Amino acid sequence: MRRYSRVVAVGGYLPGAPVTNDQLVARGVDTSDEWIRTRSGIQTRHFATENESTSDLAVVASQRALASAGWQPNDIDLIVLATSTPDMIFPSTATIVQDKLGMTNGAPAFDVQAVCTGFVYALVLADHFIRLGQAQRALVIGAETFSRILDWNDRTTCVLFGDGAGALLLEASEQPGIVASRLHADGRYRHLLCVPGQAAGGQVVGDPFLRMQGQAVFKFAVTALAKVAEEVLAAANCPVSSLDWLVPHQANIRILEATAKKLGVPSERVIATVADHGNTSAASIPLALDTAVRRGQVTRGERVLVEGIGGGFTWGAVLLDW
Ligand code: ACO
Repeated sequence: MRRYSRVVAVGGYLPGAPVTNDQLVARGVDTSDEWIRTRSGIQTRHFATENESTSDLAVVASQRALASAGWQPNDIDLIVLATSTPDMIFPSTATIVQDKLGMTNGAPAFDVQAVCTGFVYALVLADHFIRLGQAQRALVIGAETFSRILDWNDRTTCVLFGDGAGALLLEASEQPGIVASRLHADGRYRHLLCVPGQAAGGQVVGDPFLRMQGQAVFKFAVTALAKVAEEVLAAANCPVSSLDWLVPHQANIRILEATAKKLGVPSERVIATVADHGNTSAASIPLALDTAVRRGQVTRGERVLVEGIGGGFTWGAVLLDW
């Protein structure tokens, strides 16, 4: 009998009220609603309060997914959490979430660091655990508080990002589920998108803010996303015309549109939430999936391609039957 992993449920959480572009201007960012909309497609984003950490956002998203599945926290036997904005240097945010969910069953829990591709990496890892028989029911989370690493004096980056969390529950199944996946990284590009600072000797050493060379990221992203999508579709022998939905990392509407065009996916088959969420890094794909399910767009049995790219660079894609 072949063993696959299937999605059972998804949940999402966006903290606080939406913050508009005009509100950023009112806070003193040297920008305009028109510039942000035309360059990125972003209209609003959400920010965690000072008292909310990445694990808090992750817990709410996980609880919503659990409620939707009708599972109890101790039914989960693996947590993989993707984040670049962990609560602490260590322990992992995954273990903090495990405790906050009230789990006591000793399930393995760890973080994945692949920036905006983090959720795709986490999903592939959880799928491998399940296929190998090392897990039966996995919680896969993407959760971020990017507002903590934004430089509000750098208008080229601070207008693009937001906070949020999404969670997906996977279960072992005789039917796929996850059909095919591919992951990539190329560290030669790591300087194009990074937070270069570190903690040492009781201080932050270096620059603790997100830095990005936007145009270089844009160019690399479109080519890499189209290529990895084609790789995964070829591995599954799935023509692009069989795809019901493309759910890309929500970086920028122009990247989403250019990638879909390159692949030949019609725009009405692309899930886009970047206008409302901004770029929530590792949280963007599960938040987009949650939104799409709640809107009645992605439904059972449909074929979905998720794909992401992020700092490193890292990039990857997963083809699944919902
Ligand atoms: N408001 C107003 N003006 C701005 C802003 C702003 N927020 N930011 C930059 N500008 C100005 C610049 O100063 C520049 O002015 P100048 O011509 O007088 O020098 C002008 O706008 C153009 O700047 P560019 O950087 O050339 O703008 P570009 O058209 O490349 O758009 C952007 C910038 C939106 C970042 C674009 O490069 C992009 O989409 N890159 C992709 C990066 C991305 O989406 N990253 C997300 C994280 S990565 C990931 O998730 C994979």
